[in-house]
Amino acid sequence: MSESQKNIYITTAIPYVNGTAHIGHAIDYLLADVYARYQKLNNKNVRFQAGTDEHGSKIYKKATETGVEVEEYVSENSKKFQDFIKKLGVEYTDFIRTTDKDHERRVQEIWQKLEPHIYKSSYEGWYCEGCERFITQKEYDENSGVCPDHQKPYEKLSEENYYLKISDFKSEIKRAIETDEIKILPDFRKKEALKLLEDSPDVSISRPKEHVKWGVAVPGDEDQIMYVWPDALANYITVLGYPDEDISAYWPANVQIVGKDILRFHAIIWPAMLLGLGLPLPKVLLSHGFVLANGQKMSKSIGNVVDPLEVLEKHGLSAFRYYFLRHADTFLDADYTDEKYEEAYNNELANDLGNLVQRLAAMCKKQDLDGLRDFTPAIDKEYREIMDSLYFSKAFDYAWEKVQAINKRIDDTKPWELAKAGKTEELKVLLKSLAEDLLNANHLLKPFLPETTDRIEEIFLANKIVPGDPLFPKSLPA
Ligand code: MSP
Repeated sequence: MSESQKNIYITTAIPYVNGTAHIGHAIDYLLADVYARYQKLNNKNVRFQAGTDEHGSKIYKKATETGVEVEEYVSENSKKFQDFIKKLGVEYTDFIRTTDKDHERRVQEIWQKLEPHIYKSSYEGWYCEGCERFITQKEYDENSGVCPDHQKPYEKLSEENYYLKISDFKSEIKRAIETDEIKILPDFRKKEALKLLEDSPDVSISRPKEHVKWGVAVPGDEDQIMYVWPDALANYITVLGYPDEDISAYWPANVQIVGKDILRFHAIIWPAMLLGLGLPLPKVLLSHGFVLANGQKMSKSIGNVVDPLEVLEKHGLSAFRYYFLRHADTFLDADYTDEKYEEAYNNELANDLGNLVQRLAAMCKKQDLDGLRDFTPAIDKEYREIMDSLYFSKAFDYAWEKVQAINKRIDDTKPWELAKAGKTEELKVLLKSLAEDLLNANHLLKPFLPETTDRIEEIFLANKIVPGDPLFPKSLPA
């Protein structure tokens, strides 16, 4: 295997820093972390990017309202995002801020390389400040003039902009998506992306300085500032050092993870930029669904925004990862309610797995069974296939069924009856085999529940059973 085949690059969307993290933001990181950990178990060199998107008028406005210097405001919020990602037990390798000086300079160089595909023109149209983009008349009519995501009326804007000629790349992008050269997951999002592409005009990639002050300057035009999207999208390669460095060891990315709302940018503008730069397209674009709160979109105006730190504090990290990786289908919208969360923790994590570990460990200890030091886990082909298809919640289900099967095996084989009948040797063989089953299932759970699976290995591999030591500690990483 060549070095670059051993390398894996995974990216996450970089959130805007005009607020703190909400529960939906966790999804990008958790999915990427599962993939990264799985690939590390496959002995791959994993590079995992995360970062913050810090330019644009929305952020500038928010900072001004807050009364702090914008640089200070974005730094503080970026720091909060970094802390948040760490609290999720997520092992990223690179963190990029779009206000990093290297990034800003590199983005300007990228712009210059794209100049053959850029032209200036004036435009009048409907604009949503929340989305930071122009809206077509069709969208305006469909939404009766009010942005459904931001509940704000669209504004009429007329201005000079630079445009990226999507038309130069349309047929190439279409071919790449259709042939899965860039594989868009799930399949219904691939269809959606093809439809968006068909309707896509050339896109505006700058704003006049008088409207947007906070952003990267367009090289050679003092009156224009780059639109946030080309600036933000470029992060995936500037973080690797492009264009100063050869990035071929990690680019094209193996997987780029984004929410469903930003598919358009990643399936159209981003491939157009890459093609314009002569770079290969990412191999997979995984578009996940949204986390809803009680079946409703979370919004500050409804007041139903779920604070992820509060949820994390209820039952600790394992419960959080368990819920959002198993009960949030990787490709669909998911719902969070306090009741569902409690139920999943009590009836599944604590009962199916927690009780199983306690029960089995206690029986093994009673029989003086040594830890299974030389144990090598068996990884099923089916699990691998599901993981490789990136349907992580399904792979988690698969692993969980293994856990449930062990519980059933204990109920069926009734080791306590062997103990009562004094059949010690038979009992020891059975317990050893059950512990092996558990370690096998545990191995499949590793990318999802790193803390818990490490503890379970300690208990059954090194025979470190400490009574009362919690399997699901509440304490969060500092
Ligand atoms: N700054 C852009 C991304 C630029 S990437 C080059 C952005 N930021 S965001 O803060 O609005 O969203 C960041 C990520 O969180 C996106 O992947 C988005 O889809 C995701 N989510 C935002 N709300 C979400 C939920 N309620 N549920 C799940 N994911 C959500 O877009």
